[in-house]
Amino acid sequence: PDRYAVIGHPIAHSKSPLIHGLFAQATGQDMVYEAIDGGGEPGGFARALTAFRAEGGRGMNVTLPFKLQALAAATEASDDARLAGAANALRFEGDRIEAQNFDGSGLVRDMTHNLGLPLAGKSVLLLGAGGATRGALLPLARAGVARLVLANRTAAKAADLVREVAPHLGGCVVEGGGFADLGGGEAFDVVINATSSSLSGEAPAVPASAFAAAALAYDMVYGKGLTPFLKAAQAAGASRMADGVGMLVEQAAEAFAWWRGVRPDTRDVLARLTVPLV
Ligand code: ATR
Repeated sequence: PDRYAVIGHPIAHSKSPLIHGLFAQATGQDMVYEAIDGGGEPGGFARALTAFRAEGGRGMNVTLPFKLQALAAATEASDDARLAGAANALRFEGDRIEAQNFDGSGLVRDMTHNLGLPLAGKSVLLLGAGGATRGALLPLARAGVARLVLANRTAAKAADLVREVAPHLGGCVVEGGGFADLGGGEAFDVVINATSSSLSGEAPAVPASAFAAAALAYDMVYGKGLTPFLKAAQAAGASRMADGVGMLVEQAAEAFAWWRGVRPDTRDVLARLTVPLV
């Protein structure tokens, strides 16, 4: 069988072996998928990558804290990976190491296919200015989002990111600043939490008016139930809430299709991993 793996540190919590195992079974692909702990020592990722390729590994998913190193190790990278500044999937072809970042396209596919929300012409508020935000920008623009506002706790970081990416986003109008700049009362069709605030049990300081007309409030974390962000969205009148479990499953499906040339159906896997938001 062909070998694949996910590498991270820590890695025991990763759902990727389960997801890819189910995809392989459903599509009849002859492959195995394991979890590799890259360790906390400098050079651990590079050593594990070299060893896995030497043993005939065909591709890897990459998670924290190695996504930047994965891009740096690649011999070629997709536009999404380059703009994200990070890779979450690698493919090995002879001497070549190809890098991709499917987090953003997984997010878009979850919203458009699983949640039934076409993004063309929509206004999107994206909270945060770190790696998770960077990864979402090109895919959201490609999906036809008309207006994209980035808001971040550190306003200058969002403004800098907007200056950097605006030339690459085609017809999508993009602006950025701090949470206080959202005070004008503009309501968005979609509000996405791409900050790490949910991991510390906090919510970004977004005014309720931003959610007022929101068709969807989306938190990129998963398995944490109704996060403080989603609770705030609900209280503000957002009509739908979603966490990042669909994004997780859809980015996995994108990687699987890229490696194997077969797109797995995600419905059953998503149903199996979904936990009600309460
Ligand atoms: P990631 O790769 O997950 O995006 P990151 O690059 O460290 O991680 O970025 C974390 C993001 O979450 C940043 O936008 C950060 O805001 P700052 O730039 O102001 O630090 C944001 N963040 C983290 N904790 C937050 C909180 N409690 N409230 C609001 N934003 C928070």
